[in-house]
Parts: sequence; structure tokens; C-alpha cells
Amino acid sequence: MNYLGFKSQEIKPVVNELNKLLSNYHIYYQNLRNFHWNIKGENFFDLHNQFEDLYNDARLKIDEIAERILTLRQQPVSRFSEYLEISDVEEAEMQDNDREMVLIILENHQKLIKSLRAVIENAGKISDEGTIDMAGSFLENLEKKSWMLDAWSVRAGKAVQV
Ligand SMILES: [Fe+2]
Repeated sequence: MNYLGFKSQEIKPVVNELNKLLSNYHIYYQNLRNFHWNIKGENFFDLHNQFEDLYNDARLKIDEIAERILTLRQQPVSRFSEYLEISDVEEAEMQDNDREMVLIILENHQKLIKSLRAVIENAGKISDEGTIDMAGSFLENLEKKSWMLDAWSVRAGKAVQV
């Protein structure tokens, strides 16, 4: 039963953007795990915990995005090889510099924010308020986290110069 009232053709651009968002979040998640495991130095406890908080949050969002796609009666991308192909967020290299890690995560956020805005823009065209609502809350959350990481990186940057 088509309880949503969307035609599968009109929902396609929204689902494409949601699958891209899902792929972006997967790579972002793994980048955070990489940094959580490999962080070293005086900011270890601070950033080890911060990266864990962020990947736990990303894990929940990954599930919500996939289940939104299923709610729209479409198929979420489920294979890692496809995530790597579709995503704009790139797999991070090994890093030994904590500030560099934060800057990479900030750059990942920039791409996720762009991806979320593309979801909202396409969902807006067909008044898909359920998707807009979900993406809007993710966006607000990510913007706030980005401000915090940016503030941290300024402080760390100044500390390095002293
Ligand atoms: Fe851990």
C-alpha cells in the first residue's frame, strides 16, 4: 500500500541524495574510529573521548538514514565498496598529528553539511517533510559540533605558536 503518497519516480532524487548521505556517514564513521584508535600525545584523553562520542552519534544517524530510505519503500546502499564509490567524504590516511585529525574531521563535516543540504533541497521539491525534519536535525547538530571543533583547533593552534 502506498501510504506515503509519493510516486517512486518523484522520490528518486531524494533517495539518491539519502544514499549519498549514508555513504558519506559511513566513511566519516570509519575516519573517526581510525582517529579514536590512533590518537597520541597530550590531547589523548580529550580527543580519544571526543572521537568516540562523534562516532557513536554517527552510528545512530547511519541507521536512521537507512531506515528513512526503507520507510520511503526504497533500497539503502549496504555494501562498503559502494559507499567508497558514492561518497564525497574520503577515507583518511593515518595521521600522527592530533590537530590534523581535527581539521580532517572538520573537512568531513563540511562535506556532510553539503550532502544534508542537498537532501533537504530535493525533499523540499516534493514536500517530503519527514526527510526534511530528519536531515534538518542532523544539520543543526553537525553545525554545532563543527563550531566546537573549530574553537578547539584555534586554541590548539595558538598553543603551538606560543
Ligand atoms: Fe574505544
